[in-house]
Amino acid sequence: MKDLAYFLQQFENQLNTLAFVKEPKNLYLPIDYIMKLGGKRIRPCMALLFTEAYGRQMEDAYPLANSIEIFHNFTLVHDDIMDEAPLRRGKETVHEKWDTNTAILSGDSMMIVAYQQLLQLETPRFKALLDYFNKSALLVCEGQQKDMDFEREKAVSLEEYLDMIKNKTAILLAASMKLGAMFAGASEEQMAIVENYGINIGLAFQLRDDYLDVFGDEALGKQAAGDILTNKKTALYLYALEKATAEDKSILLHYYSGKDFNSDEKIQIVLDVFERCGVKAYINSMTDELVVKSNQLVADMDIEEEYKKTLVELNDKIVNRNF
Ligand code: IPE
Ligand code: IPE
Ligand code: MG
Ligand code: MG
Ligand code: MG
Repeated sequence: MKDLAYFLQQFENQLNTLAFVKEPKNLYLPIDYIMKLGGKRIRPCMALLFTEAYGRQMEDAYPLANSIEIFHNFTLVHDDIMDEAPLRRGKETVHEKWDTNTAILSGDSMMIVAYQQLLQLETPRFKALLDYFNKSALLVCEGQQKDMDFEREKAVSLEEYLDMIKNKTAILLAASMKLGAMFAGASEEQMAIVENYGINIGLAFQLRDDYLDVFGDEALGKQAAGDILTNKKTALYLYALEKATAEDKSILLHYYSGKDFNSDEKIQIVLDVFERCGVKAYINSMTDELVVKSNQLVADMDIEEEYKKTLVELNDKIVNRNF
């Protein structure tokens, strides 16, 4: 049965054969550290699944899967600097364990290593593939910049937020899927369905991430409520601001105006406002809608039933994820 666990196993097995550590150690050890810290490996598994589903051997796509996972981990190393995050996957972030300069340079090197992997792919579509990879990678940067800009902006609309998470998160998930399909030789029409699916499930994924940031706990491997401490204008905050009474609204605006508040106090007060505004139910229904749409798009794909089942498994996992 080719379920998610199957693709994960195949991916991990060959990833373990890659050697990341060389001299100077302070450049390469952090790469090895973050790459072996685990993670759900959703993106590389999707690249492998779509390669197979559209008719090419998954082994041929290992460099693609590696490239995407290394690129993703590079974005995490730099994201954790930007978000001042102390924890990643339950362990110290690279900039905490080493220092910020090391995290910047190791991250840069990871991006280069990602391209070295990509270069190993054998396909007549290489140029189109590289072009799409680059466009997607640049959109991730655009999304990350917006995410940071929003920390300081007073008025952000839900539409702007959705556009931002589409770029910073959904695009890379969609790209990992579409690149697999492209590599296997899928038609333009099929690639469009795959990409659309990736965007929808990617939006659901980031909404769930934003939800868990606040309502999950540190057992998830990240600092609890880091998004509140860094004044992230997530859908939770935007909805609360819209629904809040005048009094709650001024509380939110006050606490999201700076980073010098007592952390525990700020988190508790903001959580209370979120609770009064019914934020949980709202985010959950928004995520559910995206998953319904995602399931429909899976049904439209011209691939064998066993792969569709695995994608529905992914959709369920994302909406119910507690990890
Ligand atoms: C974290 O991605 C960054 C987001 C886009 C929310 P993942 O949740 O896929 O991180 P890992 O790789 O599984 O740790
Ligand atoms: C991260 O979004 C998106 C990218 C790394 C491009 P978040 O900042 O929400 O991710 P986490 O919560 O730190 O994993
Ligand atoms: Mg971030
Ligand atoms: Mg972050
Ligand atoms: Mg997050």
